[in-house]
Amino acid sequence: MENNNGYEQFKGQSRLPKFAIPKRYDLKLKPDLIACTFTGTVEINLEIFSDTKFLVLNASQLEFDHSSIYFTNPNTKEYRKLDVNLLEEDEILVLGFDEDLPIGEGSLYIGFKGILNDQMKGFYRSTYEHNGEKKNMAVTQFEPADARRCFPCWDEPAFKATFKITLDVPEDLMALSNMPIIEDHSDGNLKTVSFQESPIMSTYLVAVVVGLFDYVEDHTPDGIKVRVYCQVGKGNQGKFALDVAVKTLGLYREYFDTPYSLPKLDMVAIPDFAAGAMENYGLVTYRETALLYDDQHSAAANKQRVAVVVAHELAHQWFGNLVTMEWWTHLWLNEGFATWVSYLAADILFPEWNIWTQFLDETTGGLTLDGLTESHPIEVEIQHANEIDEIFDAISYEKGASVIRMLQSFLGPECFQRSLASYIKLYACSNAKTEDLWAVLERESGEPVNKLMYSWTKQQGYPVISVNVRGNKLEFEQSQFMLSGVHGNGQWIVPISLCCGSYDVRKNFLLQTKSDAVDIMEFLGASNAANNTVEKGNHQKWIKLNVDQAGFYRVKYDEELAARLRYAIEANHLSATDRFGNVTVQFDLKASVMNRKLTVILIFSGILDDSFALSMGCKQSLSSLFILMSAYKTEHEYTVLSNLITVSRKVAKIAADASPDLLDFIKQFFINLFQYSAERLGWEPHKNESHLDAMLRGEVLTALALFGDDNTQSEAIERFRSFLNDRNTPLLPPDTRKAAYVAVMQSASKSNRWGYESLLRIYRETDLSQEKTRVLSSLTSCPDADIVLEALNFLLSSEVRSQDAVYGLGVSREGREIAWRWLKDKWDHILKTFGSGYLLTDFVSTVVSPFSSKDKAAEVEEFFASRANPSIARTLKQSLERVHINANWVKSVQEEKQLAEVVKVLANKKG
Ligand code: BES
Ligand code: ZN
Repeated sequence: MENNNGYEQFKGQSRLPKFAIPKRYDLKLKPDLIACTFTGTVEINLEIFSDTKFLVLNASQLEFDHSSIYFTNPNTKEYRKLDVNLLEEDEILVLGFDEDLPIGEGSLYIGFKGILNDQMKGFYRSTYEHNGEKKNMAVTQFEPADARRCFPCWDEPAFKATFKITLDVPEDLMALSNMPIIEDHSDGNLKTVSFQESPIMSTYLVAVVVGLFDYVEDHTPDGIKVRVYCQVGKGNQGKFALDVAVKTLGLYREYFDTPYSLPKLDMVAIPDFAAGAMENYGLVTYRETALLYDDQHSAAANKQRVAVVVAHELAHQWFGNLVTMEWWTHLWLNEGFATWVSYLAADILFPEWNIWTQFLDETTGGLTLDGLTESHPIEVEIQHANEIDEIFDAISYEKGASVIRMLQSFLGPECFQRSLASYIKLYACSNAKTEDLWAVLERESGEPVNKLMYSWTKQQGYPVISVNVRGNKLEFEQSQFMLSGVHGNGQWIVPISLCCGSYDVRKNFLLQTKSDAVDIMEFLGASNAANNTVEKGNHQKWIKLNVDQAGFYRVKYDEELAARLRYAIEANHLSATDRFGNVTVQFDLKASVMNRKLTVILIFSGILDDSFALSMGCKQSLSSLFILMSAYKTEHEYTVLSNLITVSRKVAKIAADASPDLLDFIKQFFINLFQYSAERLGWEPHKNESHLDAMLRGEVLTALALFGDDNTQSEAIERFRSFLNDRNTPLLPPDTRKAAYVAVMQSASKSNRWGYESLLRIYRETDLSQEKTRVLSSLTSCPDADIVLEALNFLLSSEVRSQDAVYGLGVSREGREIAWRWLKDKWDHILKTFGSGYLLTDFVSTVVSPFSSKDKAAEVEEFFASRANPSIARTLKQSLERVHINANWVKSVQEEKQLAEVVKVLANKKG
């Protein structure tokens, strides 16, 4: 190796050189919670593979005491003469010695110090109140590449090593890390806490928490100690997550056929936390909203969130922590998989939630982002650490989870599980790439998994499958779906499922070419065909592609097929509740076969969602979308209605931009559309009602409040008044609170500040994070621009933690312009405060994306032209593309001749 030409050779590289590899870290940290600094030492046992004068590892924002740095080898020779170069741009520390280091084992010693920052990454400070006093705690968040901000290390997922951690902390605080404490030694005001050495793991999973907590504790049947740590006095709120965790550990043990690999699992609620949760090995950290559940004041949606997040993070203990991605290009393996499997777990723990129906939100999220030109392939090149943050996005998570589900559906649940268990065993304590997983699946299934999946993970985008009926032939054609209308030439191997006339008549095949046709008679087999001839004159023989929405594609039916589907929905021929109301949903862990009810729900939601996307992409009229929507009036299913609500809100905004004079009719149409559900659900929980009805109630009432339904508004205000007098009033349970808050904000204004002030009072008086976020997400729904501005400024005040500002950014249509002006005005401050990651990028995407004119896009572009910044680059491009898509959509809606008439008819059609 030629390395005598100085340390410059290591600049600008995307990966660390591999001539020295860490085996074990002995890490000592001493945080000072008053000064918000820390000092530390690390001894790293290395293996040196080739002659080198250099050791190159990661470090950033640390200071080094040069005299403390030296290398020794087992012959106890010390190498102290060295050059210390911290290259901040590359976040590397290059140690140049004056002679070659010997090949073989050796140890590197480094002393360092740093700052407990307020950026929620690296080793940082979070704050809490105890006995009325504000206090600091010290917390780590290392994923993706911030361990280097806490101690010098080989900070890449493939450099796995063992960790022996020791902490010096104030005597009265608790210290937690990945492993159990082995010794706790007190010395006056300080104590030294030593933890057991960990099994080999990646640096991004190392964690430390120092603070004051209460905890609740349980054990798994195989003796793993599980604890949930909360703020002092909130212990009860940890019980739900604890129960979920204990059960989930058992379930994954069975699913992966591999035990949880550490002796304990701690889960901690951190008051300041950038992500939702982080899967640190054995010490999972969470936002309070994602871990704590309060019987009295948490909503059903909060409960579901806690369960899903816990299930997601615990999945990583196997998929991610035990088997780790080789490089960030394979991040999606971690995140896509954990996202998918969290549904599997939640479904087994809470079968009554029917959670797979909500998986559709994942797929839709993936399809929406991936319909942009500015999307990226699932497997994405990473050149620099600062590019990693931006790929924690809907592609890695939602498209990732969706293609995994598509593959599982293609291979079958049993084969899929068996293969995953072998994959976990094969790569345990090691690293894997995407193709390693495909190889195992291919071996176990005998199917061409690599070839099939290649088209989904290496290529951005997805197809829309156009399907036409001609006689007894069904013709299929795939083309890349792009919201902007730009022509893409992607091609995929598409697992197609379809059913015809009944969900029992179902077929699967692979579409491997651009187009294909099948004879429906041959296809369905002679016996079925007799009953299901496509053209039997009977217009109820509907045909649905992508049966359980397991495919990551959209479907465009020809007029004839679309009309048959609409008819079937309206005539309740497919109705889930009418025909299968009493079918209980049961998923066997080993065979999660879709049952009929689920299939029907997914059919309904899928049709709606495809139709919405086709309309947004100007490939289908808004009128036909409206007509389709009106077919869902008496729908009962949560997912279908929730999706209908989302669609209605987006469509109302676009239609308002396209023809403002139609807005009132559109609102009336939507008020009519949700009337049936509002009456069915009411404002208070019914005895023994389902979890899904509980969630739905809030969403339906919120929508009606936003569309200006008088009854909802007045009922909401009355109930809100009772709530102000008594926070435990049964008149406003947690599930309906957000609806009431939004309703109250609809009439707030500069001259009528009551609603706004009252909500701030609720915000200030509660100590439950979920209540705080409910308030924040309601304030800016106000149609009064002055109030919106005031609320936006409140988000940046010291009363709102940096982690929570994002909840308030989704402003009313009337507040859109003021929000943009505010963003420009505060940009420097925002950039400084929110650093990088989604806490920052959400400001751009949420404020910019709702616009719908090319002029606005140009204005935004101009503003950011002089403010180029790599951590928002991708988001900015995506947001601008969305504005252009909206602008095209507005234009195409304006050209729809029959829209006004359709809208007016629908608005007048009551009941
Ligand atoms: N590994 C992530 C946390 C993370 C996200 C670290 C972004 C660094 C950057 C964790 O497993 C995760 O995915 N958390 C999700 C919650 C989950 C239920 C989707 C989150 O934080 O939102
Ligand atoms: Zn994750």
